[in-house]
Amino acid sequence: MTVRTAGDRRGAVVTGAGRGLGKEIARHLVAEGYTVLVTDVEAALVADTAAELGAEGMVLDVRDAERTDAVAARAVEVAGRLDVWVNNAGVLVTGPAWEQDEATRRLMVEVNTLGLMNGTVSAIRAMKDDGGGHIVNIVSLAGLVAVPGEGVYAGSKHGAIGFSLSTQCDLNLAGHRDINISCVCPDGIWTPMLHDKLDDPEAALSFSGKLLKPAEVVDAVARVLRKPRQVTPVPRWRGPQVRLVDALPDVSLKALPLMVGVGRRQQAKFRKNGVPE
Ligand SMILES: NC(=O)c1ccc[n+]([C@@H]2O[C@H](COP(=O)([O-])OP(=O)(O)OC[C@H]3O[C@@H](n4cnc5c(N)ncnc54)[C@H](O)[C@@H]3O)[C@@H](O)[C@H]2O)c1
Repeated sequence: MTVRTAGDRRGAVVTGAGRGLGKEIARHLVAEGYTVLVTDVEAALVADTAAELGAEGMVLDVRDAERTDAVAARAVEVAGRLDVWVNNAGVLVTGPAWEQDEATRRLMVEVNTLGLMNGTVSAIRAMKDDGGGHIVNIVSLAGLVAVPGEGVYAGSKHGAIGFSLSTQCDLNLAGHRDINISCVCPDGIWTPMLHDKLDDPEAALSFSGKLLKPAEVVDAVARVLRKPRQVTPVPRWRGPQVRLVDALPDVSLKALPLMVGVGRRQQAKFRKNGVPE
């Protein structure tokens, strides 16, 4: 595994960086001295965030593989080398799969799974003959366990984990040991993705654990950038818990409705008392 020193830092790309967690990750990378390319599907968010952070911006829909290649090429052009690529862009639409139309299911799989694959492949191509690098994939605890109310999202995030781990193995087998892929799997985070779901009973499981501040997830990203790690649940203690639930599906599928109840009570509490800053 390659661990880079501060002197090595060059180009970094963050997808879905126009707001929420991606914006905070980009802010951290700028502060750490990387030349950051802020990307998002929303042009106005790209312009505002790039100006605020003093970074370069580029509109990117991660579903477009030609465009992820163009972003990787641009990062090399402006920074000399692509060192870090963070696949952060994601979409969550709640509800049972059979109540969602095909376009909604496709959107989640295309952004959360295929988009992350596109970014990973573009980054590997830019890194593999140019000193290696580090790909950080923002997944979710929903990539490690069943999530009633978020079935398609959970499926798309499980795909992201399976792809990331398999691709790391392929890189190692091919001798590209200087490229690391780290998956960060947070519990619910106070970002716009959850703020508008306080009234949504289908999103209850996202509120059943510890609601994280974006800064706590940025810290986890900073840790894996210092020391690559294949899968990092945030908070750490949720990792063994969800792994146990995942290992005993016959038992856990009976217990998960209890967690839905916990999440709905939490949502009611936040609606009554307000959400933390
Ligand atoms: N908020 C949570 O509770 C939570 C929990 C675990 C994991 N995550 C994951 O963290 C990541 C960031 O989520 P967030 O909470 O900041 O959400 P957010 O909705 O606040 O931000 C997501 C960003 O992705 C962008 N985006 C959407 N579709 C895109 C596309 N096709 N191409 C490029 N950009 C696109 C959006 O414009 C937005 O700026 C996502 O991958 C999400 O699944 C979030």
